[in-house]
Amino acid sequence: MKLLHIDSSVLGENSASRGMTAAIVARLRAEHPGIAITRRDLAAQTLPHFTPVLTEGHPCITRNAEILDEFLAADIVVIGAPMYNFTIPSQLKAWLDRILTAGKTFHYTEHGPEGLAGDKRVIIASARGGIYSEGPGQAIDFQETYLRHVFGFMGIHDLEFIRAEGLNLGADQRTAALASAHKRIAAGVQIAA
Ligand SMILES: Cc1cc2nc3c(=O)[nH]c(=O)nc-3n(C[C@H](O)[C@H](O)[C@H](O)COP(=O)(O)O)c2cc1C
Repeated sequence: MKLLHIDSSVLGENSASRGMTAAIVARLRAEHPGIAITRRDLAAQTLPHFTPVLTEGHPCITRNAEILDEFLAADIVVIGAPMYNFTIPSQLKAWLDRILTAGKTFHYTEHGPEGLAGDKRVIIASARGGIYSEGPGQAIDFQETYLRHVFGFMGIHDLEFIRAEGLNLGADQRTAALASAHKRIAAGVQIAA
């Protein structure tokens, strides 16, 4: 079994989502000792904006293919996805721009688009400063709604969000939100054997 561990927070050791993905991966490793883990830190190794490269053999083409192959090979993908400016970090978007590839993760048919990557489980550690799961914030959540759409578009419906929100609404709310997310992780992350 192969696990791909992605982080995209720029907040280093203060990052809530990094702490959550680390706990999820540790939990999965404990449950499946033989699991092969690939790590990609999108803040430490930032990908440039996706641009068409027309020269065959260009290093960008090779790197993009590596990123896509890494994703295609994974059975489980764990992604740290903070909300920055109401959506995902641009580092994570640059990664997704390499993943959403026609003919590999989706294709168009006469009936419309069809996902080709439905064999994976994706677990997203979502961290945000405000509250978006209820109330007026729901209408301006372009982070989880976007991720739900793009993974659904690739045929991935085994998608779970583990969320810590309201992290910037005071120390008590932050502590409670992180404790609740970590309790959820400690309770077990469901994956098929
Ligand atoms: C550049 C930046 C932009 C942010 N934008 C938002 C935002 O639009 N809405 C929000 O609720 N929180 C926002 N926050 C707060 C983060 O969502 C919060 O700090 C969360 O913990 C980020 O996850 P991380 O700690 O893993 O980086 C922002 C934080 C940063 C650093």
